[in-house]
Amino acid sequence: MASDKISIHGAWASRWVFILAATGSAVGLGNIWKFPYMTGMYGGGAFVMMYLVCIFLVGLPIMLAETLIGRRGRQSPVNTLKTLAIESGASAKWSWAAMMGMVAALLILSFYSVVAGWSLDYIIGMGRGQFEGVTAQEAGGAFGALTADPWRLTLWHTLFMVLTGFVIARGVVAGLERGLRIMMPMLFVLLLVLLGYSMTTGHFMQGFHFLFNFQPDRLLHGLLAAMGHAFFTLSVGVGSIMVYGAYMPKHASIGSTVLAVGILDTLVALVAGLALFPIVFAGGMEPGAGPGLMFVTLPVAFGNIAFGQIMGTLFFVLVLVAAWTSSISMLEPAVAYLVERTGRSRVLVTSVLALLCWLVGMGTVLSFNIGAEAKFFVFGEDGFRLFQWGAAGGMNFFDSIDYLTSRILLPLGGLAFLLFAGWVLKRDTVREELAMKNPLLFSLVYWLVRLVAPLGVLIVFVTELMK
Ligand code: TRP
Repeated sequence: MASDKISIHGAWASRWVFILAATGSAVGLGNIWKFPYMTGMYGGGAFVMMYLVCIFLVGLPIMLAETLIGRRGRQSPVNTLKTLAIESGASAKWSWAAMMGMVAALLILSFYSVVAGWSLDYIIGMGRGQFEGVTAQEAGGAFGALTADPWRLTLWHTLFMVLTGFVIARGVVAGLERGLRIMMPMLFVLLLVLLGYSMTTGHFMQGFHFLFNFQPDRLLHGLLAAMGHAFFTLSVGVGSIMVYGAYMPKHASIGSTVLAVGILDTLVALVAGLALFPIVFAGGMEPGAGPGLMFVTLPVAFGNIAFGQIMGTLFFVLVLVAAWTSSISMLEPAVAYLVERTGRSRVLVTSVLALLCWLVGMGTVLSFNIGAEAKFFVFGEDGFRLFQWGAAGGMNFFDSIDYLTSRILLPLGGLAFLLFAGWVLKRDTVREELAMKNPLLFSLVYWLVRLVAPLGVLIVFVTELMK
């Protein structure tokens, strides 16, 4: 029998709401913006294959581990790990892994909010017809003008943080569940409308080839990137999925649920790619790689094809909704923890944490303009410096936080959760929670969690750091 505990924060009405929530967390800027351009950059079909391998061998095992740990513990990730570790006779220090994840999630939120804020600016710009007939240079100029203006960036960053805080403050059922029930269907409808539209552009097959053109010699080239992206796109390694697991009904099957989330997330990424590239080609643009794709190339494309104004506006609404359902999952682990720990109201805790993330996010805002010269992690001729103004090398604030989280904290967190589920929890506990009918399947999944996935993370982690 699964554990009988329930969470003090509330519970999802059904396993479907968990799927909505976890998919909402997973589907975000990673799918709509990053995946399409990475696929183009790392060799189309070859990258897609590597990505699928990473999703199934590493990403989904972590998601499974997080979900089962979360549901077993029914508390915020930090307290869940603490309680379960003590119950299993292990050190309570395991909770530090969740503490690190919680901080990582807040750091990710700090810059995610800034980028998501751009979509607010573009919804208005597109809606007003600001991109009607623009050239690439003009669109590039418009994007440059946005990022160069700290006040405008601050406005959107603030607004997005308020939107995130608003949903979280209302609680698991009245806020998250209710919001997700509206936003997720909207997201799917918008995506399908865009896909249908892109099929009418006459460049659908060109886009298709770009995305799936298979170059076997490039298989290994994108492996590291694929693994990193598998973490980010599934939202694993920080406790977001774990806290959602804590609100999951007792009898829902974890294995098939997690599989559904992984498939949905991948489908959205593929459909986003299929929808976007034909539009890019139809607008006479090149699918140039990098952040420019979403904020420069696409606006030009939309500005130069039929119904581009309305479709472009809808597209940025889609980006906003996808980012919003992700950002709430970054805040929830810390809110749950502080509510448990301090006994204060959710509204108060949410306000304080959102303000904190907002402040850190201001570092990202400034890193695009007046603070661009503030460099961190500088390896200069005179050795390593944590901070140096105007250094030639090093990373600006935004890049540093991105690097610290995606390359270091996410893999470490994922590894810790795998080891916890695989080696700290008793085998019988895991068997009970997973409740798989087929013993062979259970063994297979168990060894994925215990051995295959941790090794995968370790190998990639070490290789990354040595680059
Ligand atoms: N998965 C989201 C995306 O693809 C981002 C995200 C949400 C995330 N929660 C997370 C990333 C937690 C890392 C950790 O955009």
